[in-house]
Amino acid sequence: MSIRPQLIISLSLVLAASLAAPGLAGAEEPEGLKIFKAQHCDECHTINSLGVKLSASEKKDEKDKDEKEPPDLSGAGLEHDAAWMRKYLKKSVKKEGKEHRKRFKGSKSELETITTWLETLKTKPEKSEKKGK
Ligand code: HEC
Repeated sequence: MSIRPQLIISLSLVLAASLAAPGLAGAEEPEGLKIFKAQHCDECHTINSLGVKLSASEKKDEKDKDEKEPPDLSGAGLEHDAAWMRKYLKKSVKKEGKEHRKRFKGSKSELETITTWLETLKTKPEKSEKKGK
């Protein structure tokens, strides 16, 4: 017949290579970080330990003087657990008498994913302006 075994082998190698490539490209970013960016958390918060910078630094100008500087979240999991963060981001619990600035707009499962992920961030921020009272 006309189909030779060599051809089948080389075709399946090409196929295997093209299947593997996209998997590699999309693998580095955790789901929680994607949600973090999609929900614009990075307009206020950095995560220095992961190299996450502010996405819109111009926003700093329009901040009220008496508003607290949003903390770097490299160590979010040192202070809070996922269950607390879930409530905090939905504004049903306060921190030091204050609600979070932004209510979480994503879905319930996104909230679950992002808080579970934030809980795993346990790098002490290098220069933390520890809640000065
Ligand atoms: C408009 C600015 C703003 C946006 C947007 C924002 N935050 Fe915040 N966030 C703050 C400020 C300010 C604080 C500190 C409040 C305080 O300490 O009283 C804070 C505190 C937090 C804390 C508690 C940190 C700690 O160390 O106590 C977590 C966790 C947090 N934010 C997560 C998020 C997540 C997740 C998002 C995205 C869904 C988000 N934030 C979006 C301003 C913002």
